[in-house]
Amino acid sequence: MSLQDTLTELQADVLAQIDQTTELKSLNDIRVNTLGKKGPITEVLRGMKDLTAEERPVVGAFANEIRDNLQAAIETKKAALEAAALNAQLASEALDVTLPGHAVRKGNAHVIQQIIEQLEDQFIGMGYQIAEGPEVEEDKYNFEMMNLPKDHPARDMQDTFYITPEILMRTQTSPVQARTMEQHDFAKGALKMISPGRVYRRDTDDATHSHQFHQVEGLVIDKHITMGDLKGTLLAVAQELFGAKHQIRLRPSYFPFTEPSVEVDVSWGDVDENTKPEDIEWIEVLGAGMVHPNVLTKAGIDPEVYGGFAFGLGPDRFAMLKYGVDDIRNFYLNDVRFLSQFK
Ligand code: DAH
Repeated sequence: MSLQDTLTELQADVLAQIDQTTELKSLNDIRVNTLGKKGPITEVLRGMKDLTAEERPVVGAFANEIRDNLQAAIETKKAALEAAALNAQLASEALDVTLPGHAVRKGNAHVIQQIIEQLEDQFIGMGYQIAEGPEVEEDKYNFEMMNLPKDHPARDMQDTFYITPEILMRTQTSPVQARTMEQHDFAKGALKMISPGRVYRRDTDDATHSHQFHQVEGLVIDKHITMGDLKGTLLAVAQELFGAKHQIRLRPSYFPFTEPSVEVDVSWGDVDENTKPEDIEWIEVLGAGMVHPNVLTKAGIDPEVYGGFAFGLGPDRFAMLKYGVDDIRNFYLNDVRFLSQFK
């Protein structure tokens, strides 16, 4: 067999191998085996020394051509295998961006906190400061300075958790009135503050009682404050929280720290100019009054010069009314299914 025939046969054989190869590794083996130093083409070229001077360049050129063909075939196959491998990898790592994702659950402020913040915004808008006081409080501030001396029968209205005979869990936010009045510099102007916070009573928890709940205290002290100012302020609060259609009504009441004292009702249901007074439903929402002279005196303020109004409201009760919640305990069980309704 001539060298050309051997080379032609070799080419056909190697092309068939290349064709059948499905892996880069075996393709590389073919390249090394065929085109390498110990491969058959080198072998053939080595046999050229036996050829005549005329034959040599012809066979040499033919051998080079065969080698180039095989090299090109290997490169083409290599590119094809690499492309196939890349496609396979892409297919295996493909993401289906149309699949539904896992929703991120967003929290929300507690409903009581929302009401407190709404009130804070409103009162800050009316020029009030936000004051804070301790929840573990002195008897002096919680009771005495609020005109409730030790033997005062009105102490019975507030069952108290005592820590010592003089230290207790505050039963109301009213002590913040005394603390703020003591600190206030009237040379700088009127005292206008609200104080939201937690309060504690030795009560058995049920649908309408909780041993811990919230109050927002309000206090304004200046030289010419009237009950009209109180009424206007409370009407603004009621309409902010419940809606512009609601009206308020003041009823005489008793609190040791105010004189006169009132209980404040808010109208419920739809009320307009045609509603007969006897058809209006009233719901009690808070206590208020004109600050008692004794409270001013105890805080070092001259009641002959200064006076003002105070109120105390319960955000828990407001939330119950506003959202129709019939059990106060819902606010404290921290069941997300309940709390997430108030977004
Ligand atoms: N501290 C009272 C309570 O807990 C609520 C209250 C009533 C506060 C009248 C006041 C007020 O400031 O003027 O029952």
